[in-house]
Amino acid sequence: MQPQLTAKTRCSDREVGKISKVIVDPLSREISHVVVREPGGQEIHRQVPIEQVQEVPNEEEVVLRCSSLEFGQFPILDRDAFVTIHDVEIAHLEDNLHVEPGEILVPYPRLEHPLPRRSFFANMTHAIGTLIALPLAFPVLKYLMQPMYKPYDNSWFKVGNVKKVRKENIGYQFKFTRGFKEAFMPEQQIEKNIWVVKATEEVRKAVYGGKDKKFHDNKGNVVWVNKANVPYIGFSGKCPHLGCGYKWRRTKNFPNGVFLCPCHLSIYDEAGKVVDGPAPRALDVLPMEVNAAGDVKIIDVEYKAGVKNQIRLL
Ligand code: FES
Repeated sequence: MQPQLTAKTRCSDREVGKISKVIVDPLSREISHVVVREPGGQEIHRQVPIEQVQEVPNEEEVVLRCSSLEFGQFPILDRDAFVTIHDVEIAHLEDNLHVEPGEILVPYPRLEHPLPRRSFFANMTHAIGTLIALPLAFPVLKYLMQPMYKPYDNSWFKVGNVKKVRKENIGYQFKFTRGFKEAFMPEQQIEKNIWVVKATEEVRKAVYGGKDKKFHDNKGNVVWVNKANVPYIGFSGKCPHLGCGYKWRRTKNFPNGVFLCPCHLSIYDEAGKVVDGPAPRALDVLPMEVNAAGDVKIIDVEYKAGVKNQIRLL
């Protein structure tokens, strides 16, 4: 049985408070800690490892193994070190946990578990995910493999106007649709997105290393050059880890914001560099042109996810 978020909590000798939140391991999707709010108006919330929960006799009561003295040694919750599951959008997590709706926290990636354990869970998650997704993924795989036999599509897509990107070094999302036609099937419209940053000189240097970036077709011919002095930079909306969509989020550690991928919590800075998480490479910079009227056009290049080097697929 799992506790309700308001369950009374007692130690071996006395009651110590009520469950106020639970903390979830985003990879195993299990509760790693319960957070107990001490009585009184001081708003002290202690973070208690789940192993300390001896028993949940009913939904309204939790019994801990420790004494109240030992309970007082558990760390006070640092709320800013966590995001809520609404921020990271882990699909169906609440369904799996069976806790009452309330604040369910996920550690901010910098404070996640040590690497070996995390790698273990990550590898297991990927393996299980791959098995489940294989039949569903077949049409997608077919779609992705098609470019191996076809020349890259280097057509330009207009995605919006740059006046929407007002502040420097803040991610702004443009959405667009592109048509895709499979043999014998009617054309389908696929929703896609890119993130554009109005980059300061420092960020441009971090992205381009002071050199223009060239993009090539299948034969190695240059199809476009992103000039290193153009302030607007477009990143593919697909996370290079396993291809999820990501968001721009502000947190205490990164008050100006970072790109945060909800699937396995990779974090990228405004230059697209990996700050934390399992992503194998930086966000993919797209060929992008901003014309005199401020219209933003891109070539919708796609690279293979999950590998260190960029391997172009589309
Ligand atoms: S897809 Fe895994 S971190 Fe983005």
